[in-house]
Amino acid sequence: MTGREKPGKMYNEIDLDKIDINAAPPTEEPLRQYYFMAKCRAWVKEFEQENGQRPIAHVQNYGCQMNARDSEKLAGILEVIGYELVDTEEADFVIYNTCTVRENANNKVWGRLGYLGAYKKKHPQMKIALCGCMMQEEEVIEKLKKSYRFVDLVFGTHNIYKFAELLYTSLVQDGMVIDIWKDTDRIVEDLPMERKYNFKSGVNIMFGCNNFCSYCIVPYVRGRERSRRPQDILREIERLAADGVVEIMLLGQNVNSYGKNLEEPVTFAELLLEIEKIEGIRRIRFMTSHPKDLSDELIEVMANSRKICNHLHLPLQSGSSRILKEMNRHYDKEQYLLLVEKIRRAVPDIALTTDIIVGFPGETEEDFQETMDVVRKVGYESAFTFIYSKRTGTPAAIKEEQVPEDVVKDRFDRLLKEVQRHATERANALTGRVEEVLVEEVNEQDESLVSGRMGNNFMVHFPGNEELIGKIVNVKLKECRGFYFYGEFAGQEEQ
Ligand code: SAH
Ligand code: SF4
Ligand code: F3S
Repeated sequence: MTGREKPGKMYNEIDLDKIDINAAPPTEEPLRQYYFMAKCRAWVKEFEQENGQRPIAHVQNYGCQMNARDSEKLAGILEVIGYELVDTEEADFVIYNTCTVRENANNKVWGRLGYLGAYKKKHPQMKIALCGCMMQEEEVIEKLKKSYRFVDLVFGTHNIYKFAELLYTSLVQDGMVIDIWKDTDRIVEDLPMERKYNFKSGVNIMFGCNNFCSYCIVPYVRGRERSRRPQDILREIERLAADGVVEIMLLGQNVNSYGKNLEEPVTFAELLLEIEKIEGIRRIRFMTSHPKDLSDELIEVMANSRKICNHLHLPLQSGSSRILKEMNRHYDKEQYLLLVEKIRRAVPDIALTTDIIVGFPGETEEDFQETMDVVRKVGYESAFTFIYSKRTGTPAAIKEEQVPEDVVKDRFDRLLKEVQRHATERANALTGRVEEVLVEEVNEQDESLVSGRMGNNFMVHFPGNEELIGKIVNVKLKECRGFYFYGEFAGQEEQ
């Protein structure tokens, strides 16, 4: 059993209005979900007749890029059903797609839920739904059942493809609907998606994680690693390209181990070579790369590619070999630095970014100095720095030597300064160059400017108008402001 559905009809070949919603629901996916989308659509039509307007919905994302991509799937389904999507929580249907990677992600959700509960008291018809990583935790479900009875629908990460069916159940029934699965080996293709940007898109290439880094909750809430079949990924990207998308970001918790569990194994590097051939796609990004699985084959593909961006996010987590071992990362400081050297040799102008955790249990000042040493040696273009957050159920959570808060805070501040110093230095060195920039939006603060990203992920603002959005143009980098640039339009190549 592969757990994968046969490639069926593409979503855009399905006419929901032709589905017999009085028949019994099909058992096959995604047909079953199309059936429930049609049922919800009939519900929405009735709502519209009664209220003189379509119901409005809001999807709020709290997590990483994979979560954001899931939110686009939720929004796509709501759109097809007939909801009007809005940016405010004052809606008929609000869904929070939650994250639980650090304690503060959970706190945000509990805080917003309080507000939402008060709003619902005044608008009792509204429906509130919660999904995503946080819902995979038993204590969270217990707390919701006990103190948050006003929540209407709760589901997790493994059954998100069933959203239409769950939504329908919740619309026609009172009380809390809860559906949480412990794990799944299933990937359902061909569900609708509503993209946030017309010109760039995330593309899942795998789900779950098998690495069990000792601090991390993701493997527990996202389940075992499973890769999508290359033909499904390529078909999705071809469709996106036909739709005007020029930049894609391939998503997975550890893209370097892509394809290992497929019936016909494929490497990540091989997948990239196929994606490179797709006409219309001009930029390819990916995240996240685990250093332990980054192959020479991948480095070679990156070095020879015209489309893969010269940016690599390579999480370090800690520079101390002792701590890395405790973290179960399967590489040490020397191996990491050698890897960086190898990549820089093959792709000289590559921008390197990273994730670092400060205050892992038992981290000493010496361990911390090892991290600072790697930051100095690599000189990252940018780094996400996190204070260690204890996650119940992970091996690190039961370690006794938790580092005192004030010590962690002090290390965090010192690390941030070091990171910023190198980031500014790296950026400064680019001043004066002409770089290709994908224009993303009109600048929020100054409407005479547009903002875009270079291949190395740095932001640039320069005079222009909204007609440039989605285009790749040449921009001269005039002035560096630490993490971003002011520039000047320097021409546009044939698109
Ligand atoms: N799969 C990716 C990232 C997953 S989570 C990877 O392996 O790199 C994103 C980042 O959150 C991690 O890289 C790590 O730096 C951070 N993180 C994960 N768990 C954490 C915890 N318990 N406390 C603090 N930071 C954490
Ligand atoms: Fe978490 Fe490690 Fe998996 Fe990344 S690779 S998601 S840090 S367990
Ligand atoms: Fe958060 Fe889940 Fe992503 S825990 S970081 S939303 S995989």
